[in-house]
Amino acid sequence: MKKIGIFYGSTSGVTEEIAEKIMEEIGEEACDLYSMEEDFDDADDLLKYDYLLLGCSTWGAGEVQNDWREPLFDMEVEKPDFSGKTIALFGAGDCTGHGKHFVGALGTLHDQFKALGAKLVGAVSTAGYSFEASTSIREGKFVGLPLDEVNESEKTEQRIADWLELLKADFPALAAL
Ligand SMILES: Cc1cc2nc3c(=O)[nH]c(=O)nc-3n(C[C@H](O)[C@H](O)[C@H](O)COP(=O)(O)O)c2cc1C
Repeated sequence: MKKIGIFYGSTSGVTEEIAEKIMEEIGEEACDLYSMEEDFDDADDLLKYDYLLLGCSTWGAGEVQNDWREPLFDMEVEKPDFSGKTIALFGAGDCTGHGKHFVGALGTLHDQFKALGAKLVGAVSTAGYSFEASTSIREGKFVGLPLDEVNESEKTEQRIADWLELLKADFPALAAL
């Protein structure tokens, strides 16, 4: 079974913890975990995998987390080919304090990897999230899994479980979960 590459960018450790939780759920033998800050060199790291879970929290006003900035810029210039790759996105945000730009980073990653040829899966209903605005909604759904450890940490575990269930349709390594 092909391994899943989990790559995350996290400033205060929230998305990192989520990434570790996801790895635990999937099983360590079925995935490799990369910190964008410590383990990422270039797009070839991503391209080793046909199945990717990419985590990115949102900072500034709807911006991607710092460790994703340069990689995204480089990929925009170099245009590596992600056709044949299946990608699902997750990331932390704050629907109250930053509810006007809720999890904006997910939309940025979505658009960029889609433009590079990837198949983006794992869109999540906006139902149950309270926020003012988000640039991460396409066709009425979040493009990935938003998690809010500031206001709704009690919902995180179930949200991850529901999302992994949803991903089974596109990630063969998850079918046995
Ligand atoms: C200065 C600042 C700006 C932020 N901007 C946003 C934002 O635009 N949208 C959002 O959803 N969350 C925003 N947040 C909330 C963070 O995304 C949230 O705290 C998250 O849990 C951080 O995850 P990390 O530790 O993985 O980086 C912001 C937080 C701070 C402190």
